[in-house]
Order: sequence, then C-alpha cells, then structure tokens
Amino acid sequence: MKATDILRQEHKVIERVIAAVNKAADAFTRERNFDGDTFEKAADFFRNFTDKCHHGKEEDVLFKALEARGVPSEGGPVGVMLMEHDMGREQIRGIFANIEAAKEEDGGAQIRVVDHARRFAMILTDHIFKENNILFNMADEVLTDEEQQDLVHRFTLVEVHDMGAGTHEKYLAIANELAEKYGVPEIDAHDPVFAGGCHHHRGCHGH
Ligand SMILES: [Fe+2]
Ligand SMILES: [Fe+2]
Repeated sequence: MKATDILRQEHKVIERVIAAVNKAADAFTRERNFDGDTFEKAADFFRNFTDKCHHGKEEDVLFKALEARGVPSEGGPVGVMLMEHDMGREQIRGIFANIEAAKEEDGGAQIRVVDHARRFAMILTDHIFKENNILFNMADEVLTDEEQQDLVHRFTLVEVHDMGAGTHEKYLAIANELAEKYGVPEIDAHDPVFAGGCHHHRGCHGH
C-alpha cells in the first residue's frame, strides 16, 4: 500500500461524514430539525481526524516530500491545498463557536452551525476531488516506491505521537455511527482504492 492510497482511503471516510452532515443540514433547512449531536460529533471528527490527523499527514509528511522533490509549497497545487486546509479550519472554528448556543435552542446559532458545516462540506468535497485526481497522481509520479514506503512509516508516527494509540479507531467508529444514522452507504470494499496494492501485503485490511 502506497502513502497516497492511505490518504485516498481516509478521504472515503471523510466523505461519509460529509454526506451525513449534508443530510443533517438538509433536515434543518427542510423542517428546522436541528441535530446538535451530529453536528457536534462531526465537528470533533473534522477537527481531529480530518484536520489534525489527515491534514497533518499531508502537510507534515507528503507535501514536505513533494517539496523535497522540487514541487514548490508556495503557489501551484500544494499552495492551493494548504490554503483550502485553512479555509476548512475556519469553518470548524465557526461550528465550535456556535454549537453550545445552538444546542440550547438559539436559532441564530443553529443557522450559523449549519452554514459553517455546509461550507466545510463544500470546501472539502472539492478539495478531496483535486487531491485524488491531480495532486496524488502527481505524487505517484515523482515519488519512488521506497519513498512512498518511508512516508507510510512516517504516517504511523503521526498516528502514534500526534494522535495517540486508539484515536484513529475512535474516529472511524464516530464516522460509522453518523453515516449509519443518516443512511450513508458503506465504503465499497471492492473499490479500486481499497483493492490497490493490498495483494502485495499480508494482513491488509480496508477500514
Ligand atoms: Fe488536503
Ligand atoms: Fe486529503
């Protein structure tokens, strides 16, 4: 499994939570039914899994490796990705700033939570599309197999040192809970992203 395959897998998990959040946002718009629990759990997932863990792997490991191979971090695709990570962070802060009041039936705060959640979903959906179709393909071209394996090793260090053992699993469980609550389909195990590279390694399992 390549480093970019791991990131593509994480995108699938993030997309499931985004789908659940969009459904919760639609329910609010349609019938003013504010699901505070879902928005709060999703914001926690976005802050810790999407931003700290996934964007941490991209910014501290993958983008740095690309930089070392001559892909500039300012301007160009990496610069755009960094800017979009920041735009996403702003929306996460917006959800957290309003969530307590929103849970206490403050209608204005509820509208702001839903608005920030929708913006986050839009920014990240477009962002993931660009990474999957442009940046990661570029990475697969410039990085050797050895370099990809080195990045995989460094991802593990991010998991253990920055996140803490068991944290990844905790957020996968939250993603499943929210996706099931809103009827978001499971990730297809036959998806090429999950099948890709797995047969080379024993014990490979898709999340
Ligand atoms: Fe990213
Ligand atoms: Fe990403």
